[in-house]
Amino acid sequence: MSDVYKKQSNGEEGCLNFGKSRNQGLCDDFKEDFITLAIETSCDESSASILRGERNLLSNVISSQIAIHKEYGGVVPEIASRQHLENINKVVEMSMDEASVSWNDIDLIGVTHGPGLSGALVIGVAAAKAYSTALNIPIVAVNHMHGHIAAAYSAYPKLKPPFISLVVSGGHTNIVKVNGYTDFEVLGQTRDDAIGEAYDKVARVLGLGYPGGPKIDKLAKEGNGSEVDFKRTWLEKGTYDFSFSGIKTGVLNFVNTEKQAGRDVKVEDVAASFQEAVVEVVVTKAMEALEKENMNKLVMAGGVAANSRLTEVMSEKCAEKNIEFYKPPIVMCTDNAGMIAIAAYHKYFEQGADNLDFDVLPGLEI
Ligand code: KG4
Ligand code: ZN
Repeated sequence: MSDVYKKQSNGEEGCLNFGKSRNQGLCDDFKEDFITLAIETSCDESSASILRGERNLLSNVISSQIAIHKEYGGVVPEIASRQHLENINKVVEMSMDEASVSWNDIDLIGVTHGPGLSGALVIGVAAAKAYSTALNIPIVAVNHMHGHIAAAYSAYPKLKPPFISLVVSGGHTNIVKVNGYTDFEVLGQTRDDAIGEAYDKVARVLGLGYPGGPKIDKLAKEGNGSEVDFKRTWLEKGTYDFSFSGIKTGVLNFVNTEKQAGRDVKVEDVAASFQEAVVEVVVTKAMEALEKENMNKLVMAGGVAANSRLTEVMSEKCAEKNIEFYKPPIVMCTDNAGMIAIAAYHKYFEQGADNLDFDVLPGLEI
């Protein structure tokens, strides 16, 4: 724990003694007015956000690189780093302008240090460390996946752990038991491709371009999801782990077989059938985990949580089983610094600031 954040020496709960004199005073007022600046550069969005208190996002500026990577059919790591370098100071300034805060107002800097592309993470972390050093502001290194889970707090002011979170993104597929704001227990994870990766790969097979998830989502609305019965991979009984590499190959084989036989491939039906299969698997496993853990709250998180069919099926199932269902708005599902700010706030108040020698961790687990 760093010098700027220590529990009171008398060990009393709640009231904290901070190094910055203007922050000393009543704890609750202090936490309500606490300003966090967060930076996110783990993949192809350069983002900065200003958070007031625990959940009030004053700004959440996202500069997407999708248009640039699109022409290569996926994220090119070197290009991503260069773009982050060009954008990072601009998005920070924009987030501060939009929130009408100055450097003097900022109490904490939070930055994603993993998981993600190492060259992309390095840019955000270097910028955050530079601001922290130059302006003497405490810093915390944030796990991107904790950020995805924290995104829901901004949309639901009363939401509190414990709950089960289904984290579905381009790099991860996890069922997580969230015991506290900084206490996570992974119940299941993918053994090969992440669900978002499967969406993107299937979209490529179908010639839909990048990023595939939103394209399949849209196209599937015009297709018949029971047209092709793609094999669902359940793995051994009782496991909450996933495997999505089989269905990706299944789609590829189906398309090739149809083409070789001279039949037209109805892309809408293939997209809808693929989507039906993966949605069925993740919804079923999330429901089983909720039941086994005796929980009645589900939080969906990550880029794939933006998927309309997944949202529809999951909310129906939750209603059927009397489970509270929480899903942040789309902009908070995909990568953004707002979610990092909320995770940073909680990490700081529960674990304190980090020393400046933390590194980027591209393979960081939940
Ligand atoms: O969380 P995210 O923005 O970045 C990572 O941390 O990975 O997730 C990106 C992933 C991509 O694979 C993208 O295709 C997928 O989320 N995605 C979607 C949708 N919107 C984004 N997948 C399915 N349906 C969507 N509407
Ligand atoms: Zn993400």
